Amino acid sequence: MSEKKQKEWRRTALLPGSFDPVTLGHLDIVIRAARLFDQVVVAVLENSSKHPWFSAEGRVLMAQREMRALKNVRVVRFSGLLVELAAEEGAKVVVRGVRGGADLEYETLMARMNAHLRPGLDTVFLPSSPHLSHIASRLVREIAYLGGSVKGLVSDKVALAVETRAGEKRAEDAFTDRGAI
Ligand code: PNS
Repeated sequence: MSEKKQKEWRRTALLPGSFDPVTLGHLDIVIRAARLFDQVVVAVLENSSKHPWFSAEGRVLMAQREMRALKNVRVVRFSGLLVELAAEEGAKVVVRGVRGGADLEYETLMARMNAHLRPGLDTVFLPSSPHLSHIASRLVREIAYLGGSVKGLVSDKVALAVETRAGEKRAEDAFTDRGAI
């Protein structure tokens, strides 16, 4: 089978995000998506306007490490439009985790916009598991920055990376009035 045919035959889902850092909430969604699709491409957004704490390379490495046991999951880095990556990867589905009403509103807008840009590209929302619904990367960064524990929100390895980065951030910000988080 040609590579193109193989791509068409497999049901590939794209799971995009900033993953700054990857949380237990992300992992739960990836694991569940990996059960639903033949292949899941976790797409780490490179040029995030959110001023990420971790470089794109660091976020990809972190995600790869966290997801290495999932054999049908691949982590890639991307910039530009998600719909273009979907075309490259032969993906007809985007998966996004949804924690609640605010997420749903924003995600519905993105899903419709992606479908407008690439007709046929659909989005599947997975409701976050209730015990993980309070986890957001932004809050993880904020807690770490303020010296709180991020245990139970990210893996132990990621917690170490986040705490180290939080220390660097505090040092960088010590003599400025720059917003840290
Ligand atoms: O983890 P995040 O930050 O909520 O993920 C947002 C993401 C990466 C899914 C979104 O910003 C995105 O898809 N960016 C790529 C640029 C793009 O295609 N923009 C149009 C989307 S409607």
